[in-house]
Amino acid sequence: MNHIDGLLQAMTLTEKLGQLNLVTANRAITGPTTTTDIDAAIRAGKVGGVFNLWGREAISATQRLALEESRLKIPLLFGLDVLHGHRTIFPVPLAEAGAFDPDLWMRTARVAALEAAEDGVNLTFAPMLDVSRDPRWGRIVEGPGEDPLTAAIFARAKIHGFQGDDLRSPAALAATAKHFCGGGAATAGRDYASADISPRQLRETYLPPFRAAVLAGCAAIMPAFNCIDGAPMTAHVALLRHYLREELGFDGVVLSDYTAIGELIEHGVAGDRTEAAALALNAGVDMDMVSGVFLEHLPEALSRGLVKEEFIDAAVRRVLALKGRLGLFDNPFRLAVSCASRTPDALELARECARRSIVLLANRQVLPIDKNLRRLAVIGPLADARMEMQGPWSAAGRPGTCVTILEGLKAALPDCDVVHAEGVGLGRDDDHGVAGACELARWADLTVLCLGEAAHMSGEAACRATPDLPGAQQQLAQAVIATGSPNALVLVSGRPLMIGDLAESAGAIVATWFPGVMAGHAIADVLTGAFNPSARLPITWPRLTGQIPIFYAQRSSGRPPDEANPFTSKYLDVAATPLFPFGHGLSYGRASLENLRLDRETYFTGEEISVSVDVICSEDYARRETVFFFIHDRVASVARPVMELKRWRQIDLAPGERMTISLTLEMEDLVFPGVELRPIAEPGVFDLFVGFSAASEALLRASFNLLARPGAA
Ligand code: GLC
Repeated sequence: MNHIDGLLQAMTLTEKLGQLNLVTANRAITGPTTTTDIDAAIRAGKVGGVFNLWGREAISATQRLALEESRLKIPLLFGLDVLHGHRTIFPVPLAEAGAFDPDLWMRTARVAALEAAEDGVNLTFAPMLDVSRDPRWGRIVEGPGEDPLTAAIFARAKIHGFQGDDLRSPAALAATAKHFCGGGAATAGRDYASADISPRQLRETYLPPFRAAVLAGCAAIMPAFNCIDGAPMTAHVALLRHYLREELGFDGVVLSDYTAIGELIEHGVAGDRTEAAALALNAGVDMDMVSGVFLEHLPEALSRGLVKEEFIDAAVRRVLALKGRLGLFDNPFRLAVSCASRTPDALELARECARRSIVLLANRQVLPIDKNLRRLAVIGPLADARMEMQGPWSAAGRPGTCVTILEGLKAALPDCDVVHAEGVGLGRDDDHGVAGACELARWADLTVLCLGEAAHMSGEAACRATPDLPGAQQQLAQAVIATGSPNALVLVSGRPLMIGDLAESAGAIVATWFPGVMAGHAIADVLTGAFNPSARLPITWPRLTGQIPIFYAQRSSGRPPDEANPFTSKYLDVAATPLFPFGHGLSYGRASLENLRLDRETYFTGEEISVSVDVICSEDYARRETVFFFIHDRVASVARPVMELKRWRQIDLAPGERMTISLTLEMEDLVFPGVELRPIAEPGVFDLFVGFSAASEALLRASFNLLARPGAA
């Protein structure tokens, strides 16, 4: 009999249910209720894992309670939301996604794992893989943007970074792919709201990142709070049991979100906590985060015949198996062998990642800042806002250690007179300082406007019906720009912000997102040209909230938008196009694409398609360029999106250099869920679009014909 079988045989029902109980130690508050007196529960064998606790001493003391004072001495899991760093806080995931660099995504997760493991954590509730196209949703900041392929590649990189090659390594974290699934499509961008997603959209958009996570060996999955078409994800038998467990073969742990099992009552699918516990267990949920219904109500569910003990045993086995994969039975304290915590390497990586995540959206000959600049005004509530730079979900990060934009610019321009004025408060409608700020702008040779959101305006429970510049910031910017001072607008936020007329009036626009601990230095590196900005938007940037959801992979319509024809799919009051499209981002200097070619014009199903394109760099700047490859299946049994991202390549170009990118598309890239939702590649004409973004007017195009292989079924 193996170790787990032995434990299972020895366990009382309470001890089995204890392994399914995940409680919070409340060092961070990430939900509406808390857990009390967990020590007694641990001693009684009623706890399988603790989260929102970190620090080697505190965790070791809690682990010792389980190992020395409980009957079966089963070690605990220790979870935390290590999303974008632990002590060294990297840019928020939405920012990092814009680097379009899986190696970077993996490296930051690796350092985060090292730092968190040193603090005793062995499970992270990350990566967050919610595809979203709705900037009203505060949690859009936590994910990799709007595109399912980007999210799938992001998933693989993050899981490898967190978990490494062997979970037994003391520096590895078990990763949790979350939130499965569809939370990013919540009604009106409101947290926890229902999502109505067709089975097709599920397969095309929301499931692919989680399929990638399972294939990458992700240790755990967390269902989303929302329901899909009336079925709460925490009790979704079709998606949790049939799709995840049976179709994908996921044998890891499904751990509920915070009090989500108890909330099945509010969802209106459970009459009481016993029914809620039964629904979740029968759907395939293994651990109950905070609600306590598994521990308290599964015994009654058993006696009422609502669940079978074999389902409880199966859940306990998966939890114990995860503890075994982490090596906790042999090495419950998992003393980290070494840690790159806050070493220069970690901080340098934080600076590199932030530089690589900052998007230059517009530049009307203002940037980069001239090295000989004499007088610089740094205006706005985000200029000296140390506590905001980390953004949300930075549990063990120390916001007081962040480098501000003002500090970064002063360090980068030692001979320049750099003067700061807040102008207006963050989120308050006070315009007390606008006049003074304008005076300063008139004095300066250049003004950097630092505007945007506070960290608490982004993340969970931070949805905004009007995702614009909070408070009087828009007025401040308009007044400063009206002075005629050359200016650059720096936007610090967790989402695309609606910036109205600033899109045209600002001299330059830079999206920094929440750049993390090295914010100021990275932003200065980009503004001064010490680093040539290379990030591209992982999400479409709307002109107005009314356009949401707006994203590149839309299906056509019978009347595609045509400004010249009123009877087409468009608005009276705003263009149908976004302010900035998916993939948009400028660099200093220019690049161009030429000579897109395929190896043939016709292919049989199953054959590879070889593609090449030339990229040319202007003479003035070296640059890192990202080239996107989209397809469009012109005619199919189901209307296909007008563009679908299938590849991207990133290359470094010297000034004046010309480079050829060559790659192959596989048949898999042409597959889509057919009428019956079964994967199929249908013969017909395909367009291939290649460009620096999804901006249709700038794409190179080629087409090819796919024929059914003779004799193929
Ligand atoms: C929160 C979040 C989830 C997080 C969990 C634990 O409610 O929805 O993403 O992992 O609680 O903090």
